[in-house]
Amino acid sequence: MKAIILAGGSGTRLYPTTQIINKHLLPIYNKPMIYYPLSLAMLLKIKDIYMVVNPQDKSLFEKLLGDGSQFGIRIQYVIQEKPRGLSEGILLCSPYIEHEPVLYLLGDNILYGHDLPKLLESAKKEVESSGGAYCFGYYVHDPERFGIVEFDEQGNVLSIEEKPKKPKSHYAVIGVYFFDGQACKLAQNVKPSARGELEITSLLEEYLKLGKLKVKLLGRGFAWFDAGTYESFLEAGNFVATIERKTGLMIGCPEEVAFRNGWISKEDLLKLAKKMDKTDYGKYLRRLAEEEVHAF
Ligand code: TTP
Repeated sequence: MKAIILAGGSGTRLYPTTQIINKHLLPIYNKPMIYYPLSLAMLLKIKDIYMVVNPQDKSLFEKLLGDGSQFGIRIQYVIQEKPRGLSEGILLCSPYIEHEPVLYLLGDNILYGHDLPKLLESAKKEVESSGGAYCFGYYVHDPERFGIVEFDEQGNVLSIEEKPKKPKSHYAVIGVYFFDGQACKLAQNVKPSARGELEITSLLEEYLKLGKLKVKLLGRGFAWFDAGTYESFLEAGNFVATIERKTGLMIGCPEEVAFRNGWISKEDLLKLAKKMDKTDYGKYLRRLAEEEVHAF
């Protein structure tokens, strides 16, 4: 499976800051926002990553992440000329994805929880073996603000509604999706919405029409942030800081995932650590390389 990470957009909800810098490069506590979705893809052992970026930001992403080889992965940048909507990423990446299943991540979504990789792994396997699409539902108190999913006991989606006035459930669809090899073809059916965007909900509805859309619920042990507003941006940063200090383990550290996956060596990790010796981030990488850091 390959992964697509959406890191374009306009970031208007974080203005004035994001007038001059792409939000995915801003730090959520101690690392750039983009590290979180990147690490998630790597946790699922995905090595081929397509990053959808705005033309003016490509060089900055390249400066930060290069071609991914320092993490033992391959990153290719795909230009989105204008933020035309979340499902355009599939269309732009279709020459690379073709008929392969794909993990589709919104670059400003941060997800954390015990056994998260296991939960995502099972959805990944199901899409690889049986096809269709998977989305994930997260309980929210204010469903009127989100894309809301209604489902039956088997996890089959019955409806998806964007910011419904009368929500049919309390489960918001988060920015993590698995699509089978039909995604590129189905994305071509998506028409611009009333606000002129190629919505991700419309692509999900294409799967829904085929009876091929499933949802997995994230239970109370999970935290999800769409870090695209000041409040959620700060909240996500505070959350990461608290968990990292309490557990002594990092969230969203691609160097760590690469090392634990056996994609980079101890020497590689030490070299990466050396560049940031002055920070706790660098010290953590050094500790990972030199002594056993227990992960549970
Ligand atoms: P949004 O948060 O919905 O949009 P945005 O980033 O443009 O922000 P704002 O609403 O504040 O103007 O986007 C969700 C994610 O998808 C985010 O990580 C940016 C990315 N994105 C793209 O890569 N291309 C797009 O065309 C859009 C709309 C978003």
